[in-house]
Amino acid sequence: MKLGIIGVGHLATSILKGLARSGWNPADICLSPRGHGPDLARRDGYALAKDNADLVRRCDLVLLAVRPADAATTVDGLGWREGQVLMNACAGVSRAAIGAAAPAHIVRIMPITASELGASPTLVYPRTEAALPFLDALGSAIELDSEDQFEAATVSAAIYGWAQQLIIAGADWSAAQGLNPQTARELAARTFVAAGRMQAEQDAPMHDILASLCTPGGITAAGLDHLESNTVPEAWRSACDLVLGRLRGK
Ligand SMILES: NC(=O)c1ccc[n+]([C@@H]2O[C@H](COP(=O)([O-])OP(=O)(O)OC[C@H]3O[C@@H](n4cnc5c(N)ncnc54)[C@H](OP(=O)(O)O)[C@@H]3O)[C@@H](O)[C@H]2O)c1
Repeated sequence: MKLGIIGVGHLATSILKGLARSGWNPADICLSPRGHGPDLARRDGYALAKDNADLVRRCDLVLLAVRPADAATTVDGLGWREGQVLMNACAGVSRAAIGAAAPAHIVRIMPITASELGASPTLVYPRTEAALPFLDALGSAIELDSEDQFEAATVSAAIYGWAQQLIIAGADWSAAQGLNPQTARELAARTFVAAGRMQAEQDAPMHDILASLCTPGGITAAGLDHLESNTVPEAWRSACDLVLGRLRGK
């Protein structure tokens, strides 16, 4: 099955690295001739479409990764065929918003740039067999039960950035205490990886895993109390609400 990519920008470049890493043949991937498409085709051997309609003609599975405001106009009038699968990665763009312009089977996906490491927990709705090998190449697929849930889960794509800001804050603080900056970076980043793995890979309830770290009167509990009394958890929740409101167009 040939994969086509319309919107070869920042996200698509990460995705292409992830696909290459897991052995996809560049000759089986066709890029639209905008953004980084022409350069990547020249450099890495991807097929290059003449235009988006040519891409849709040549591919069975198509990834849409243009800016959200460009999504509907981009897919309009491209000669979609029955049975074609369009993977829409545009944040906040519903299936209905592009369904009239692109009469294909539309599946919403939300990969993150960790795709390039094969580490993206990629949201998908609805589960679509034809998209699974693509999603598996980028990391792991997380299936949602409704489009409404998909929208709520998409907030995690923003949290991915906030987590990086926390890692930077931790690394900067450690470096300011005199740690070698590279050591500080590794320590901060790997601590977040470790915390994530403990919550993802253990069966115990999430709060029990945390409680097991919080010795009464200990350092973890002291820091958590301080964050709580400075309304950090509340600010975090309201930032999630804000992002979800944006995704729902409010
Ligand atoms: N960046 C992320 O980490 C991330 C994560 C998850 C989801 N997303 C979603 O992915 C989408 C793309 O984000 P991005 O950060 O990759 O944006 P980006 O770097 O601006 O890339 C968008 C690309 O779309 C191209 N484009 C625009 N109109 C086109 C058309 N009619 N035909 C073909 N190509 C067209 C642009 O080409 P020109 O330069 O020629 O205009 C540009 O290369 C967004 O909808 C975003 O919500 C992004």
